[in-house]
Amino acid sequence: MSRILVLYASTHGHVAKIADRLAGSMRSAGAEPDLIRAGAEDPDPASYDAVVVAASLHKAKHQDEVVEWASAHSEALDSMPTAFISVSLTAAEDSDESRKRTQACVDDFVGETGWTPGRVERLAGALQYREYDPFTRALVRLLMKRGGHPTDTSRDHDFTDWDEVGRLGAELAALPAEAR
Ligand SMILES: Cc1cc2nc3c(=O)[nH]c(=O)nc-3n(C[C@H](O)[C@H](O)[C@H](O)COP(=O)(O)O)c2cc1C
Repeated sequence: MSRILVLYASTHGHVAKIADRLAGSMRSAGAEPDLIRAGAEDPDPASYDAVVVAASLHKAKHQDEVVEWASAHSEALDSMPTAFISVSLTAAEDSDESRKRTQACVDDFVGETGWTPGRVERLAGALQYREYDPFTRALVRLLMKRGGHPTDTSRDHDFTDWDEVGRLGAELAALPAEAR
């Protein structure tokens, strides 16, 4: 059975849910995922057949703990099957401009870490107004208002296509085999 490291960072919990769903569908597809939160441990990529890293964008940057881990292990990561999943709100928008903005942040991540993921996926995240502290809630609401996005802070707004996440998990379960 292929062992796959699923390392993730999540500021308000949404990527944690995505990583959990990915791991679930990898398991159903016959792989053995190891779900680890970045910063909690320092897993060695060499102990796995493939590595999937998931993080979200906050102020145009992916979480520091993922950048630090990927930088420290970039050489090992470049020599094995890998995927990077970038979760953001720009990925929820269907325009060339938003695709360019998301791609620029992924390019920054690659430049900063020195790791070139074998596969990159951009997934739409969520607006989790109920998880934010009052300052963040007001700030995000203002930004969303300017962009014509949801401003109802009494509930969360989930833009993730969960069927897509399930399909992606099944595909990523085959990452080690693709490399053979
Ligand atoms: C303070 C803040 C800043 C954000 N900045 C960006 C951003 O620059 N670009 C973007 O596309 N999404 C941005 N987002 C949206 C997050 O990427 C999205 O909410 C994601 O689902 C968060 O996942 P997490 O809860 O696992 O961290 C931001 C969200 C917050 C709360």
